[in-house]
Amino acid sequence: MKFRLLGFEVKGDERGYLTVIEEDKEIPFKIKRVYYIYATLPGVRRGFHAHRCGRQVAVCLSGSCKFLLVDSEARVEVVLDRPTQGLLLDPMIWHEMYDFSPDCVLLVLADHEYVESDYIRNYDEFIAAARSADPS
Ligand code: TYD
Repeated sequence: MKFRLLGFEVKGDERGYLTVIEEDKEIPFKIKRVYYIYATLPGVRRGFHAHRCGRQVAVCLSGSCKFLLVDSEARVEVVLDRPTQGLLLDPMIWHEMYDFSPDCVLLVLADHEYVESDYIRNYDEFIAAARSADPS
């Protein structure tokens, strides 16, 4: 499955911590869009889509949440619970986010503008597209 956990450097001193993420460095693409998900209510599950072409990195700046990732061959659960870790999602990975802690701030960096045509929001359509792209 084409996801990767990226580790970001911690610059710490007696005042606390600082982490830097830059395009084409820690983030392996040019950052076109940034959004963040926060104050998520208990029990909420969101996402439920894959991107046809877009790549994203998700960073849990505060608190924690879980991702369910699905492609044509596997289903994986990933926990994001630290601001020094990024989840790189390549295209054609179905993702759902859940178990948001009340203090969760989930930052998402994307290499593409928000375009509805880049979304596959129907799971059966996603599975069919993923299997035809990777028939093994
Ligand atoms: P939605 O796609 O439902 O979020 P998620 O997939 O994370 O559950 O987006 C929620 C709303 O925000 C929806 O009205 C679309 C809007 N939106 C934008 O306008 N621009 C964006 O970049 C994103 C991600 C969402």
